[in-house]
Amino acid sequence: MSDEAPWPYFPVFLRLQAEPVLLLGGGEVAARKLRLLLRAQAQVRLVARALNEEVAALVAADRVRHLAAEFEPAQLDGCTLAVAASDDAGLNARFAAAARERRVPVNVVDDAAASSFVMPAIVDRSPLLLAIGSGGGAPVLARRLRERLEAQIPAAYGRLAAFMQTHRARVKTLEQSLRRGVWERFVDGAGAEALLRGNEAGALAELDAAIAQARPKGEVYLVGAGPGDPDLLTFRALRLMQQCDVVLYDRLVSDAIMELVRRDATRIFVGKSRNLHTVPQDEINAELVRQAQAGRRVLRLKGGDPFIFGRGGEEIETLMAHGVAFQVVPGVTAASGCAAYAGIPLTHRDYAQSCVFVTGHARKDGQLELHWDQLARRGQTVVFYMGLQTLGLICQQLIAHGLPGDWPAAVVIDGTTAQQQVIASTLAELPAQIDAGSIKRPALLMVGEVVRLRAKLAWFGARAP
Ligand SMILES: C[S@@+](CC[C@H](N)C(=O)[O-])C[C@H]1O[C@@H](n2cnc3c(N)ncnc32)[C@H](O)[C@@H]1O
Repeated sequence: MSDEAPWPYFPVFLRLQAEPVLLLGGGEVAARKLRLLLRAQAQVRLVARALNEEVAALVAADRVRHLAAEFEPAQLDGCTLAVAASDDAGLNARFAAAARERRVPVNVVDDAAASSFVMPAIVDRSPLLLAIGSGGGAPVLARRLRERLEAQIPAAYGRLAAFMQTHRARVKTLEQSLRRGVWERFVDGAGAEALLRGNEAGALAELDAAIAQARPKGEVYLVGAGPGDPDLLTFRALRLMQQCDVVLYDRLVSDAIMELVRRDATRIFVGKSRNLHTVPQDEINAELVRQAQAGRRVLRLKGGDPFIFGRGGEEIETLMAHGVAFQVVPGVTAASGCAAYAGIPLTHRDYAQSCVFVTGHARKDGQLELHWDQLARRGQTVVFYMGLQTLGLICQQLIAHGLPGDWPAAVVIDGTTAQQQVIASTLAELPAQIDAGSIKRPALLMVGEVVRLRAKLAWFGARAP
């Protein structure tokens, strides 16, 4: 313990809003205390035989309840605070003793010895309040000091404090350790000056600038994780995976790839599967912004390539709109990965001079609106992403638009992983060979004469024919 002088009282500010307070006395002194208690929004009950004009008016206006009876100790029951301000010293003493007995904090005006709390001299710049106490021992000195402070502290400090109270939430978007510095910069700088001159918009702009300056610079890495085999990650993807603070990943990112993300990074699953969007896209976008604005390095890890059926464009559009820094790392898209691991080249000098990637994801009404006449062409390979559930419809439309029923088509399930499965067949026969409903893994449909090359070129995995 230090050898500093002990305090006779502990200074606190008490919330009295709607709290019951008993005030004894109806004269000038009681009126002064009553005004203060009403400023604090207390529910004042007043015991007095006679009321002066001001008190009577407040009673008449229902601002205070008058107990027009003799004081009785039971009137103190349930009170949060009690104040004795009558001109009868004996009555005040009995009131104080009864309050102390009930452990109700009590103040007896001008009698510190009988009081369990004292009222300070106040400099009011609401919501800023300065309370000056002398432990009841030197109230004149406390009042002198108050007069000096009254003269020195501009009246507009109330507005300054109210402004700071109103905009606390803005500063609270920063990490705790940064908030104080922002307020100090604001109070000591152009922000407070602007407000004291009455320029609230200018003050707000200064505050926002101080917040922006203090905010650590977060960044988003939009990274393509490839189709499944971790060896297909790019060097840059791996480097960013190992330096992120938080990762948002979806269903297509394999466990083996998640193993390579920095161990202590926070993992947020935003997984998507057909017709079951676990987290809606705009919430994912908002979360990316929130995390980056909190100063974190955010890894947005996506299966395949972020810009191929990956909604990566929408995500960076939101980041741009919020001024969040980002970089995009391409990944091996499912078509490339599946083609390579299934031994089905996407193009070939003799069989396919072009290659088209299409989504086979049906609309809500089950329909697929595609340019079938352009897809049902010879000399090209067509790769359908998300086409397993519409496989029957796709094969049927391609035949209807001119491709022969024995045109080669293959489904690759879980491409590039140890579980890869390839079903190579024809447009006419493939739908009957696959029970689409029972396949829960990602699958790709490849259509074109290149599929025939698999018979010769398959190299990967035990399942190769
Ligand atoms: C929403 S898309 C995402 C595509 C991803 N951005 C890409 O570039 O590969 C999901 C579809 O990709 C295909 N897909 C992804 N990974 C696959 C894999 N390992 N094997 C087969 N198909 C895959 C499936 O058709 C799946 O329905």
